[in-house]
Amino acid sequence: MNVRFMIVLMVMSLVLGFSSAVDFRWRKTAGFSDRFTRAVSSVVFPVHGNVYPLGYYNVTINIGQPPRPYYLDLDTGSDLTWLQCDAPCVRCLEAPHPLYQPSSDLIPCNDPLCKALHLNSNQRCETPEQCDYEVEYADGGSSLGVLVRDVFSMNYTQGLRLTPRLALGCGYDQIPGASSHHPLDGVLGLGRGKVSILSQLHSQGYVKNVIGHCLSSLGGGILFFGDDLYDSSRVSWTPMSREYSKHYSPAMGGELLFGGRTTGLKNLLTVFDSGSSYTYFNSKAYQAVTYLLKRELSGKPLKEARDDHTLPLCWQGRRPFMSIEEVKKYFKPLALSFKTGWRSKTLFEIPPEAYLIISMKGNVCLGILNGTEIGLQNLNLIGGTVFILHTLAISLSWFRD
Ligand SMILES: *[C@@H]1O[C@H](CO)[C@@H](O)[C@H](O)[C@H]1NC(C)=O
Ligand SMILES: *[C@@H]1O[C@H](CO)[C@@H](O)[C@H](O)[C@H]1NC(C)=O
Ligand SMILES: *[C@@H]1O[C@H](CO)[C@@H](O)[C@H](O)[C@H]1NC(C)=O
Repeated sequence: MNVRFMIVLMVMSLVLGFSSAVDFRWRKTAGFSDRFTRAVSSVVFPVHGNVYPLGYYNVTINIGQPPRPYYLDLDTGSDLTWLQCDAPCVRCLEAPHPLYQPSSDLIPCNDPLCKALHLNSNQRCETPEQCDYEVEYADGGSSLGVLVRDVFSMNYTQGLRLTPRLALGCGYDQIPGASSHHPLDGVLGLGRGKVSILSQLHSQGYVKNVIGHCLSSLGGGILFFGDDLYDSSRVSWTPMSREYSKHYSPAMGGELLFGGRTTGLKNLLTVFDSGSSYTYFNSKAYQAVTYLLKRELSGKPLKEARDDHTLPLCWQGRRPFMSIEEVKKYFKPLALSFKTGWRSKTLFEIPPEAYLIISMKGNVCLGILNGTEIGLQNLNLIGGTVFILHTLAISLSWFRD
């Protein structure tokens, strides 16, 4: 059988309802809720949290027998899901729930999931009956532990229960990252690797290999697995990189647009990572954006607020701002344009409400930072901020030649 894999990244725009209740609607379509009821094999989770001031998004997942709830940090930048775990725990951080009591179902060292986790390192099976892991995050945080299998309890949107046995990390030694500690029970790994929850659910036949999330600028949102919650004719797709297979990264570099016009910056290597609160542009793109924004703002009633250290670049108005709604008219949208074929392109729009935050002092700050400063080099990392009002879904589909 000649099966060619094509990995695609899907980007959709969402319009946020301005009623007091948060109401998600697809652009140009009817309500979201009637799509939910028609769905047959998708799982949806409510998401809590925000970019600022919290700096994380959290999903409640029920794990174990009997199932117990855990608050997990949503992260599309890594694969492994782990919980702070009583193995016993050597070093555990403050968490909302009691430590996870690991199941006795240890994953052996020669298991394919263990191999997938150690793809790029020299794995030594010193203890063949267990799979040791260590994950490190960009902010310096880490977790060390062993892989176990346990029951995850979730419901399809139709109401049907599913109780798959999935691999997760029992983390008994954690170091907090440099950024403020997230008071959660662990991490929900949603990356592209075999160990990620989505890949495991997909390989066991529970859902299609599609993940999406919609995060609102008011905080919160939804996360879903499966492909029947959206109207696929209204979604733009772009091929995903093969070389960069660990991350959700478009195959072709993006072109940066400001107010619908090119900035001249092309071939920007881009990674989508909901685990990062902010967006990081490489030094050149960062410089271009800050230059263009400052130029746009000259003559507008906004002054740079040098005494506000919330983020490197903040502006103040005549009075403190309460919401982004009051200031977004002064800012132009950004966009990344990705080639999808010989002549076609798809646009990932970054509206002002997705790249700005309001600080505690009532100033408006740029949620895009200089990635070169934190060692990202040429990479452009699209963090949580720009997913606001956006859905990012990734599907692995295949075609027969
Ligand atoms: C995580 O989400 C749950 C709801 O699912 C919420 O009750 C809880 O307060 C959140 N926890 C944190 C630490 O944000
Ligand atoms: C799934 O549905 C059952 C019964 O309808 C309910 O008791 C349970 O709380 C639901 N679980 C989740 C994770 O939503
Ligand atoms: C970004 O950070 C790098 C490394 O610290 C620095 O050399 C560069 O000047 C910064 N770029 C801008 C536009 O601030």
